[in-house]
Amino acid sequence: MQLNNFDKNIFLRDYWQQKPLLIKNPWHEWSNPLAPDELAGLACEEDVEARLVMQQREQWKLEHGPFAETRFAKLSKKNWTLLVQAVDHHVPEVAVLLDQFRFIPNWRIDDVMVSYAADQGGVGPHFDQYDVFLIQGLGRRRWQVGALCDHTTPLLPHDDLRLLAEFESKTEYLLEPGDMLYLPPRYAHNGIAVGDDCITYSIGFRAPAQNELIAHWCDHILADLSDDDRYSDARISPQQNPGEIAPAALTELQRMATEKLLDYDIFQRWFGQFSTTRKYVDHDLQPAKKIKPAQLRARLAQGEILLRNMASRFAFIRSHHEVLLFVDGEMFACPQTTAAFAERICAQQRIALMADMVESPEIMELLATLYNQGSLVLEHDD
Ligand code: SIN
Ligand code: CO
Repeated sequence: MQLNNFDKNIFLRDYWQQKPLLIKNPWHEWSNPLAPDELAGLACEEDVEARLVMQQREQWKLEHGPFAETRFAKLSKKNWTLLVQAVDHHVPEVAVLLDQFRFIPNWRIDDVMVSYAADQGGVGPHFDQYDVFLIQGLGRRRWQVGALCDHTTPLLPHDDLRLLAEFESKTEYLLEPGDMLYLPPRYAHNGIAVGDDCITYSIGFRAPAQNELIAHWCDHILADLSDDDRYSDARISPQQNPGEIAPAALTELQRMATEKLLDYDIFQRWFGQFSTTRKYVDHDLQPAKKIKPAQLRARLAQGEILLRNMASRFAFIRSHHEVLLFVDGEMFACPQTTAAFAERICAQQRIALMADMVESPEIMELLATLYNQGSLVLEHDD
């Protein structure tokens, strides 16, 4: 499916990471993919991240899930919202929303958060560090968009919520079912439900912070270094003033400090693994019984279909003469025999297998490994 009246080239050129955009119902026929009671059901599950945000007499309150089923009946008529993270990992009908945004690389996608609000409900004025497409699923919501914020923007004193101390709306949008609002990172915004049964799907992106990237990258490099990797100055010349730290010493020290950090080959392998590591590991589909490539081939021959685990992250990097496939934090170096196939499964949710692929021992071996680590599932497995 293609979005109507939405030109991704213009969008990427003029809006992405730059300015907000209201996209009036671009879907051929919008139909809300998740009913409110199904969302409430998810919020009661152990391995699902859910929050309730309520406003009572000007005070903001936050509760974390999982919730008891009886919790929702006790809520007031107005001013609360339920937010459920990573719904795309659990509900295929929500996961397919992401297919409209594949013009942005998968590794930049975080998850689909779904909110349900009673009349006037919202999470309060705030800003996020990430791009988001806010799709109105059901009901109506008024979005107010304000100024660009940063780490110096004053926040309300609150232990759990990062709400803006001051918020001035500059533009307002009233979203109806199917409408979509794109917001770049750090724009102040406030979404208020207009009437009951307001469902919003947030297609959330991620972008590593430089400090986080450096910290993880350095940890990775450090893990491979030992105390024996040390400065050495054999055949040093006598020094006139013993107080000087000489340029030659500094050059060598700087080389020691940066050499490994600048290694592109190690970096790409690390980043592939780092960026495909799952956020929620609880949702584990590892099969109770491991499968052998021959058994898998037999099941596929019977017409069974392999699917990607909806919570799994797949990515690849073309490197020298091979393709590095990354799945859920694991790396598989794929030589020519499997390279094209590795690229293919990064673009497909259902793994379409041609006869020659099923015949390839290398491909079957790879698929069995991915199945056994829980990154692929057979459609009719329980
Ligand atoms: C919501 O869906 O109510 C909150 C989304 C957001 O503002 O980030
Ligand atoms: Co937000």
